[in-house]
Amino acid sequence: NSEKLSSARFAEATDAFVEEFTASVNFDQRMAQQDIQGSLAHAAMLCKIGILTEQELADIRNGLAQISGEITRGEFVWSVKQEDVHMNIEARLTDLIGIAGKKLHTGRSRNDQVATDIRLYLRDEIGNILGQLQRLQLALLDKAEQEADTIMPGFTHLQVAQPVTFGHHLMAWFEMLSRDRERFLDCAKRLNVMPLGAAALAGTSYPLDRFMTAELLGFSRPSNNSLDSVSDRDFAIEFAAAGSVLMMHLSRFSEELVLWASAQFDFIDIPDAFCTGSSIMPQKKNPDVPELVRGKSGRVAGHLISLLMLMKSQPLAYNKDNQEDKEPLFDTADTLVNCLRAFADMMPHVKAKRENMYQSAKRGFATATDLADYLVRKGMAFRDAHEVVGQAVRLGLNSGRDLSELTLAELQGFSAAIGADVFDILSLEGSVAARSLIGGTAPETVRKAICEARHQITG
Ligand code: ARG
Repeated sequence: NSEKLSSARFAEATDAFVEEFTASVNFDQRMAQQDIQGSLAHAAMLCKIGILTEQELADIRNGLAQISGEITRGEFVWSVKQEDVHMNIEARLTDLIGIAGKKLHTGRSRNDQVATDIRLYLRDEIGNILGQLQRLQLALLDKAEQEADTIMPGFTHLQVAQPVTFGHHLMAWFEMLSRDRERFLDCAKRLNVMPLGAAALAGTSYPLDRFMTAELLGFSRPSNNSLDSVSDRDFAIEFAAAGSVLMMHLSRFSEELVLWASAQFDFIDIPDAFCTGSSIMPQKKNPDVPELVRGKSGRVAGHLISLLMLMKSQPLAYNKDNQEDKEPLFDTADTLVNCLRAFADMMPHVKAKRENMYQSAKRGFATATDLADYLVRKGMAFRDAHEVVGQAVRLGLNSGRDLSELTLAELQGFSAAIGADVFDILSLEGSVAARSLIGGTAPETVRKAICEARHQITG
């Protein structure tokens, strides 16, 4: 059977189902351009050390350029018989240029080749992810600027706690994304080490110039240990872990958007372009984009677990198990890029219903802590102040009024320390303005934070 890989060793053809079962070309063809990029660098290095002639290198370059074009135009014929992306491209190259194509694999194994391709592929995807992440962060900064003075209730236990500004809330999301950005940058550092030269597992006896290949491919250095190079996939696990944390964040943002868009909260309007209707209920406008993003966070966390399970029992060095790393990685990258893009597109058009936010903060006794702090400033111990304010809240509840709507005489009935100046701090505006320390919700502080953040992500 002349079509079989390493055919000389085998007396029998591969079982037809096994051929399908073991092939990865249907999904790993996604790394075709990275595979070509790796081969071009390897070939240039082989030429420099005298293994390929200048003519052979030129043939390889022409052949790979043609193949790259065929793939881009969708003309390339992928064959399951050639098992994976690497063998498909190499076989086509040999068809096109003959003997030089057969020399390309000198000093290389698919094991170090695939480990290199995945790294190149993920490096590109991290670039895409960081690009979309920055778009979303910029959208949040713009929105936070517009809403720096917008007062809304801040929640703990999903109960109204203290007033905050909507700008401050948006900047909380921004901070989470900043850490996600750092996680991806950090992941890119460890990922950017070159396996080529590890060959199958033990290195190679050819005098490869690994520094040259690494430099051509933009890797920071060649890897240190050949066994580790072909079997390590922890960079992939890190990528999925960073992705899972990012998706967990997007899922939390989504949950808030969904809640806020409900008639019960009615804090925001999500534009029609990001919502759909119901097939039966004519009145419906459903927040599909955030709901779907919330849902998709689950599959990325699932991919992280898949990769951990894939690796946990593998002995050194390469095992075919590793072929299973690709689909979770590809889907993780797609999901992250798409979810970030949807969010970055949507956020500028999310409209705050400022009056509703304000009234909601007003209804929830959100300035009770401010009243306690006021009494402390007048000399009362905090625990006693807590008790006094509790009584005032009870009166408010029983009479259907906010603290700021109680009369001075009523308030003084709870403590003689209360003066007419109390109404300054019982207002929502006074409450947020007072929290002007670093990290606080005061509009001025939030504006400063926005300014610094803008610097940080664009500068
Ligand atoms: N398709 C394989 C993978 O994805 C490439 C490496 C195959 N190496 C081997 N010795 N069978 O991991």
